[in-house]
Amino acid sequence: MFTASFLLSILLWTSSCQALEKFFGAVYEHAVILPDDTTTAPMSRQEALDLMNKNMDILEEAVKTAAQQGAHIIVTPEDGIYGWIFTRQTIYPFLEDIPDPDVNWIPCSDPERFGPADVQTRLSCMAKNNSIYVVGNIGDKKLCNRSDVGCPDDGQYNYNTAVVYDSNGKLVARYHKYNLFRGENQFNVPKEPEIVTFDTPFGKFGIFICFDILFYNPAVALVVEHNVDTILFPTAWMNLLPHLTAIEFHSAWAMGMGVNLLSANTHKNSMRMTGSGIFSPDKIVPYYYNMMNESGHLLISELNSHPRNSSTYYPIAWNLYASQIENFSSGSNVFNGYIFADKYTFTELKELNGDYSICQNDLCCHLTYTMVEKRNDEMFVFGVFNGLHTVEGKYYLQVCTMLKCQSMDFKSCGESVETAATKFKSFSISGNFSTSFVFPEVLLTNIHLAPDMFQVLKDGRLTSKSGISSHPLLSATLFGRWYQKDPKI
Ligand SMILES: *[C@@H]1O[C@H](CO)[C@@H](O)[C@H](O)[C@H]1NC(C)=O
Ligand SMILES: *[C@@H]1O[C@H](CO)[C@@H](O)[C@H](O)[C@H]1NC(C)=O
Ligand SMILES: *[C@@H]1O[C@H](CO)[C@@H](O)[C@H](O)[C@H]1NC(C)=O
Ligand SMILES: *[C@@H]1O[C@H](CO)[C@@H](O)[C@H](O)[C@H]1NC(C)=O
Ligand SMILES: *[C@@H]1O[C@H](CO)[C@@H](O)[C@H](O)[C@H]1NC(C)=O
Ligand SMILES: *[C@@H]1O[C@H](CO)[C@@H](O)[C@H](O)[C@H]1NC(C)=O
Repeated sequence: MFTASFLLSILLWTSSCQALEKFFGAVYEHAVILPDDTTTAPMSRQEALDLMNKNMDILEEAVKTAAQQGAHIIVTPEDGIYGWIFTRQTIYPFLEDIPDPDVNWIPCSDPERFGPADVQTRLSCMAKNNSIYVVGNIGDKKLCNRSDVGCPDDGQYNYNTAVVYDSNGKLVARYHKYNLFRGENQFNVPKEPEIVTFDTPFGKFGIFICFDILFYNPAVALVVEHNVDTILFPTAWMNLLPHLTAIEFHSAWAMGMGVNLLSANTHKNSMRMTGSGIFSPDKIVPYYYNMMNESGHLLISELNSHPRNSSTYYPIAWNLYASQIENFSSGSNVFNGYIFADKYTFTELKELNGDYSICQNDLCCHLTYTMVEKRNDEMFVFGVFNGLHTVEGKYYLQVCTMLKCQSMDFKSCGESVETAATKFKSFSISGNFSTSFVFPEVLLTNIHLAPDMFQVLKDGRLTSKSGISSHPLLSATLFGRWYQKDPKI
C-alpha cells in the first residue's frame, strides 16, 4: 500500500541511508582578508565579527557555487576566517566556545543554546541552506581552573579548531590541532591527540590541520588504526622546494596512505601560500597553484567513497625491489649538500643515461634514468638522506631524490629552483626503506604536478610513464617518514 508515510520513508531511505560509491568533493583556496594589527591591542568582539563576516561572505559564495555544482562536501582553509599573527590576548575576540558534537546541535536552528556562537551559526546555516557538508577553521576556547595543572595563567585553553557541519547544519566534528607550527603562540596543544572521524553515505571521514600532516598522530593513526576513506585538510601552507610544496607533498601523502585528501590552502603569495587540491591514491587532479594573482579558487571533483576498495588500488611493499638488487655504482662525483638543513649525499648525473646507487647509513637508493637530452647548462643529482630533520620541527626522514640543482655549482644542489629545461625519457627510483610510510613526489617545471606521468609499482619502484618525456622535470622523490624514530614528545 502506497501511503504518504511509506513514500516518505522510501524518500528518507534513499536520501540519507543509501551508500554512494562516488561523491563530489570541493575545496576552496581562499585569499583571506587579514586583520589590520593583531600584535598589540585586542579588537572589540564586534570588530572581530566584522572581519570574520567579510571572510565568510566570500566563503559563502564558494559554498553556494560548490553546492549548485553538485558537491557533497566543501573544505575551507586553516586561518580562512580570522587570519593570523595573534597573541593570546588579541585572539580572544575571535574565539567561541565550541561544544562536543555529542550534544547534537544545529546552530542554525538553535543559535543561543550554548551562548554567543555567531561564527558557528553562520557556518551551520551555510551548510543547512545549501544542503552540503561544510568544513571550517575557527578558534575554540575552554575555561579552566587556574589551579589545575596545565591551565594557562589566563584561565582558558585556546584551540586552533576544525569544525564540520553536515548537510542539515548539524555539528558533526570538532578537531583541535595537535601539531602547532612555530609562532602559533595564541593556541594550546590538546593534552592528547584527538582522533576525530564521522561516517557519511559516501565513506568514513577523518580530519586534521596543516602541520599535523608531517606526524603520526593523529594523521597516520586515522588511516591505519581507524580506516578512514577521506581526509579533510584545512591548511595555511608555506611552500618550500624541493620536497615540501603544498600540492607536491599533499598529493604524495594521499597516494602513499591510500586515502582521498581534500586539501584547502589559504592564498597569500607574499607568504608563499598557494596550492590546494582534491587528491586520491590514483588521481592528483584537480589542483590549484597560482603565484600570479591574489584570487581565491574553487575546485570540485568526483572521488571514490572507498578509495582502497577501488579496482586500481593495491598496497605497496616500499622496499621490495631495492632489497633484492645489487648496488649500482655510486658514480665518480659524490658530495654532500643540504636540503632544509638536512645533510644529503648526492651523486651527479653526468651522462645521458645511467644507473646509480647511493647510500646513507642503512638506506640505499637506486636510480635508473634516461634523459631526452643531456644539457650542459643544467645539473641533476641523485641523493639520499636518512636521519632526523631538526629545523621547524623534529621528524625522522628517509628520502631518495633526483633533482635539478639551482645552478651549475655543486653547492646549489638542494636549493630552491622553480624552472628546468631537462626532460627525462624515463626514470625508476627505489630504496630499501625501513619504514612503510613513503610518499611519492614528482614535480615538473614551474611547480606543476605530473598526473598520469608516473606510477608506483607494487614492489616500491617510482617509475615514469611515457608522458613524462614532454615535460621538463624539477624533481622525483620517494619521501619516507620513519615515525618510530621521531623524538618522543
Ligand atoms: C539561510 O537561509 C535563511 C532563511 O532563508 C536566511 O535568513 C539566512 O541568511 C541564510 N544564511 C546563510 C548563511 O545562507
Ligand atoms: C578551582 O580549584 C580550587 C581548588 O581545587 C577550588 O577551590 C575552586 O573552587 C575552583 N574554582 C572554580 C571556579 O571552579
Ligand atoms: C587569477 O588566476 C586564475 C587562474 O589562472 C584566473 O581564473 C583568474 O581569472 C585570475 N584572476 C584575476 C583577477 O586575474
Ligand atoms: C571494501 O572491500 C572489502 C574487502 O573486499 C569489503 O569487505 C568491504 O565491505 C568493502 N567496503 C565497502 C564499503 O565497500
Ligand atoms: C652498497 O653500497 C653501500 C654504500 O655504498 C655499502 O655500504 C653496501 O655494503 C653496498 N652493498 C652491496 C651489496 O654492495
Ligand atoms: C639496504 O641495502 C644496503 C646495501 O645492500 C645494505 O647494506 C643495508 O643493510 C640495507 N638496509 C636495510 C635496512 O636492509
